[in-house]
Amino acid sequence: MRRKIAAGNWKMNGTLTQLEHLNVLAKRHPTPKVDIVVCPPNTLIAPATAQTGTTAIAIGAQDCHTATTGAHTGDTSAQMLSEAGASHVLVGHSERRCDHDETDRVVCGKAQAAIAQGLIAIICLGETLQQREAGSTLEVIADQLAASIPDIATGETAVIAYEPVWAIGTGLVATAAQIGEVHGFIRAQLIKRFGEDAGQRFRLLYGGSVKAGNADEIFAVADVDGALVGGASLNCDDFSPIITALENSSP
Ligand code: 13P
Repeated sequence: MRRKIAAGNWKMNGTLTQLEHLNVLAKRHPTPKVDIVVCPPNTLIAPATAQTGTTAIAIGAQDCHTATTGAHTGDTSAQMLSEAGASHVLVGHSERRCDHDETDRVVCGKAQAAIAQGLIAIICLGETLQQREAGSTLEVIADQLAASIPDIATGETAVIAYEPVWAIGTGLVATAAQIGEVHGFIRAQLIKRFGEDAGQRFRLLYGGSVKAGNADEIFAVADVDGALVGGASLNCDDFSPIITALENSSP
């Protein structure tokens, strides 16, 4: 059985006072049936970890460098994130791929660095609208999967997040059929590369305008093991019902 994950990506949002949302979440979900991970900006990782303490909420980061230390002004290594209290880190988010020209090779190096440090790497992929309209979605996903996931990845150390770029922050959500097609394809590719048992152990998250109102439908899709939530993870009143929907979809 794959334990499901409700992950929140705060992106470049959040202040110390907003950490209060984590207290509320922890109180509302004291013994959740799913993993809960919140990825605030780096400045909030240490205080968020101190605050969530022994609760069920894990804290993640949004990016890491491929190297452990060195002359990389402004960057943060997986080791530093781990020391600050993070247990997870997103790599290859489309906003990083776009804003910082991150290639699959760089994303793979980041995932490798994260895993080597004992962090769980949440490796993000997804097609643009142009690629979907050109009919090349599965080809794009196959290429990203092959090149962004390091050989050392396992279902315990890596999570795959499918986030169609056109559905991020737009209010447009992929249909259940579109999500099912891509998640089924990702599962098949993972099995091909890592073998049946190992391929089945990876957890696959959907991301892109997930809200309380569409969560039930998304979580009913085969091979959806949770969500990576942006906007709706910033507020406990929006994120909590998504967590509950995921718990209700879990056996
Ligand atoms: P939204 O949920 O705001 O569309 O963002 C999705 C996302 O990019 C999560 O990483």
